[in-house]
Amino acid sequence: TISVDPAAQGAAIDDTMYGVFFEDINRAADGGLYAELVQNRSFEYSTADNGSYTPLTSWTAAGTAEVVDDSGRLNERNRNYLSLGAGSSVTNAGYNTGIRLEQGERYDFSVWARAAGGSTLTVSLKDAAGPLATARQVAVEGGWAKYRATFTASRTSNRGRLAVASSNAAALDMVSLFPRETFRNQPNGLRKDLAEKIAALKPGFVRFPGGCLVNTGSMEDYSESSGWQRKRSYQWKDTIGPVEERATNANFWGYNQSYGLGYYEYFRFAEDVGAMPLPVVPALVTGCGQNRATDDEALLKRHIQDTLDLIEFANGPATSTWGQVRAGMGHPKPFGLTHIGVGNEENLPREFFARFQRFRAAIEAEYPDITVVSNSGPDDSGTTFDTAWQLNREGDVDLVDEHYYNSPQWFLQNNDRYDSYDRGGPKVFLGEYASQGNAWKNGLAEAAFMTGLERNADVVKLASYAPLLANEDYVQWSPDMIWFNNHASWGSANYEVQKLFMTNVGDRVVPSRASTTPDVSGPLTGAVGLSTWATSAAYDDVKVTSADGTALLSDDFSGDASQWTHSGGGSWSVRDGQYVQTDEAAENTLVTAGDPAWHDYDLHVKATKKAGK
Ligand code: AHR
Repeated sequence: TISVDPAAQGAAIDDTMYGVFFEDINRAADGGLYAELVQNRSFEYSTADNGSYTPLTSWTAAGTAEVVDDSGRLNERNRNYLSLGAGSSVTNAGYNTGIRLEQGERYDFSVWARAAGGSTLTVSLKDAAGPLATARQVAVEGGWAKYRATFTASRTSNRGRLAVASSNAAALDMVSLFPRETFRNQPNGLRKDLAEKIAALKPGFVRFPGGCLVNTGSMEDYSESSGWQRKRSYQWKDTIGPVEERATNANFWGYNQSYGLGYYEYFRFAEDVGAMPLPVVPALVTGCGQNRATDDEALLKRHIQDTLDLIEFANGPATSTWGQVRAGMGHPKPFGLTHIGVGNEENLPREFFARFQRFRAAIEAEYPDITVVSNSGPDDSGTTFDTAWQLNREGDVDLVDEHYYNSPQWFLQNNDRYDSYDRGGPKVFLGEYASQGNAWKNGLAEAAFMTGLERNADVVKLASYAPLLANEDYVQWSPDMIWFNNHASWGSANYEVQKLFMTNVGDRVVPSRASTTPDVSGPLTGAVGLSTWATSAAYDDVKVTSADGTALLSDDFSGDASQWTHSGGGSWSVRDGQYVQTDEAAENTLVTAGDPAWHDYDLHVKATKKAGK
């Protein structure tokens, strides 16, 4: 039974409260959301990205095929290219088991090529059983130019291969195969099933591109004079413009990132799903297990200027320097950026905050309407967390990004986490959270926790589960919300919970209380009302009685106060009207021993509220 007092006014809930956090982790971008089917399309894989890589990773060659890095390159940012001898060929294996092709669907092939003496490229799609489409011939002549061909798949296969054979000597780069159909049919677009699963959440915001990802090389010089070294800073300017001019980079999670899915595509995706874009830029203090800060003033100034340029790229008129670049890419209208995150999980709160203030001052001077989001480090509590929060409070920060990954029990026990947060202080952006697992109990624990986020919607303004995506064959982090391989995708139990909350966002909270009528033949898992209310921090002398006044459970918290605060951990239950300890498996079970019949219990909870709570 849920008792509601319609006259009572709870917190208002913003439409943007629930969003998604997209990070290129678990190959979420290349081989995932980014629809490109060819892996290592520009031969840039390097041991600097991953010790097992070579420039021909994912390719097999027949005849003479050599990856070259010399002045004959396609452009300064795309360093390597393939030199193919006469009568030679290369075959790409795509991701997972291969290239996924669907019968009757169209696929767009393109390649940058040059052949001083002219050459004919034969391009084919096949698997072990034979051709998957009619082969195409492409005549190449002279210097670098882009060539295209279109295929229609004659069979469905998850094990496709793309082969390119050259009649004469030729140089190749940016060998690409895209499904004709992408999400909203955008060019250089997104894989439809994955984008649709995210869109179905109706996200209020999209936080991107990381996460620890934004720390990639953030201490490194990345001036033009430093060349195009690997582990350059993850810099938004490297991710825009023509894809063949986007320098690939080492990804924080140990692979190569093509940047084919870059800042323009992130903004466009946020717009396509009706979400507020929320980019995160590096703060020049690395978190994510590396406690370093740089005092390089020139580098700091450059990153601050880059951040201002990013805002202009997103919001400036098409006549402004960076607005013009956006317009040139096909979006004259501004993207309407309102929030930007500076930093992610910095372990050095003082060093971080000093730099954060420099970013914020510069941003607010030019763009006073932009909300600059700070963070509280990597933990849910502790000294770093407390120091970070203190600095954020004293510094009058608007929003603080909190992250935590904990057990389902933790989520059940911490439903009241935000009940005691200072109403006059910074608001919370819960940018990353998840209970450790993709089982139903994890989804349920998160759902219970989310009722606490909603109850505190005046303090918790934004929340996103993390990570969002995982390719099942390239996992660095688990659990994840949506899983996929090269031909299928599926939402976890946690995804279903997020979807329920995200597609049913209320206008305001109506304070309510719940009592349960348990099924005595099975475990009672509906004790949300109890675990919400009866915490030892806020209450004394808690009693649970049946309707006739029979005492079922009481705790004055004088002994083991954890009996209630750990209720999700299996610390209590009621059997035959007796309060007993239980093991983990029987947690929160209300059982009448030896009696399999149904009984109605009208549970009454009485508690004394502690002063000031
Ligand atoms: O979501 C995975 C990682 O968890 C993020 O990159 C980082 O911010 C956190 O530690």
